[in-house]
Amino acid sequence: MSRNTSVRILCVQDLLNRGYDRQKLIEELVFVNRETWSALVPERYIWTKRMVSAQLDRCPETTYCAFIDGTLVGSASFICINEQAAHSSTTWESISAHGTFATHDPDGDCAFGLDLSIIPTAQGKGISDQLLQTGFFFSIILRNLKGAFLGARVPGFAKRSQYATIEEHVFGKKGRSRDPEVRKYQSEGFRIVKIVPGYMEDPESLDYGVLMFYPNPFYTRFLPHSLFKKPAYLLRKLFL
Ligand SMILES: CC(C)(COP(=O)(O)OP(=O)(O)OC[C@H]1O[C@@H](n2cnc3c(N)ncnc32)[C@H](O)[C@@H]1OP(=O)(O)O)[C@@H](O)C(=O)NCCC(=O)NCCS
Repeated sequence: MSRNTSVRILCVQDLLNRGYDRQKLIEELVFVNRETWSALVPERYIWTKRMVSAQLDRCPETTYCAFIDGTLVGSASFICINEQAAHSSTTWESISAHGTFATHDPDGDCAFGLDLSIIPTAQGKGISDQLLQTGFFFSIILRNLKGAFLGARVPGFAKRSQYATIEEHVFGKKGRSRDPEVRKYQSEGFRIVKIVPGYMEDPESLDYGVLMFYPNPFYTRFLPHSLFKKPAYLLRKLFL
C-alpha cells in the first residue's frame, strides 16, 4: 500500500442508507478495532459487536470509515457533548460510557473524538489525516459546533519517562510536543488543553492522555447547530 493509495472516507449513516449490510459493518469495525488496539491496551477496551451495535444506533452520523479497494482499514467516531462536560472528562471509559457512546448528547455544542483507529498494515499512509479532515473538521463545520475535543495517547512517553517529566514530554519546546502522536494532532490544528493522568490503561503512554481541542474557525454562536442538520446531510451527499 503506497501513500498515494486511493482511500474512500464514508459516513456510517450514508453507508447504511445505501444498503451496506449492518451486520457486516459491525463485524468489520470490530475487526479494525481489535487489529489496531489489541497490542496496545487491555482487552476490556477492545470493541465487541454489542458495543459497536450500540454506537451505530446512537451515532451513525458521527462515525466514519476508511476503505481501500472496498476493505475497511480505519474508523473514526465522535459524540456530541457540552463543552463543560468535555473539560471535565477523566477517563476514556467514562466519556464513552464503556464504549457504548450513551454519553452522546445530540444537543451538545462540541464534538468529542472517541475513536481513531488505522489497522497496522495501513498506518503511515496519511489515512488518519483524511479521516480527521472528513470525519471531524468537515462534520463540525457543517454542524456549526464550537470545535472538537479528543483524548490523545502519549505513546512516546514510557521510553522517555526516565529523562523527562510528562509536562516536558507533552509540551516540548516552543509549543511543539515531543510526542509523535500529540505532535501529529498539533499539525492538524489541535491545541493542548491539559494532561489527563489515568485517561486509559495504556503502557506506552504510562496511562496518560492529553485533552486536545480543535476550534471550529467558522463557528457562529448566533445560530443553533440543529439548523445545520439537514444541510449537513445534503452536503455530505454532494461531496462524499
Ligand atoms: C495514530 C494513528 C491513528 C495514526 O494514523 P496513520 O494513518 O498511521 O497516521 P498518518 O499516516 O496520517 O501519520 C503518521 C504520522 O503520525 C506520527 N505518529 C502518530 N502516532 C504515532 C505513534 N503512535 N507512534 C509513532 N508515530 C506516530 C508519525 O510520526 C507520522 O509522522 P510523519 O508523517 O511526520 O512521518 C494510527 O497509527 C493508529 O491507529 N494507531 C494506534 C491507535 C491510536 O493510537 N489511535 C489514536 C488514538 S488517540
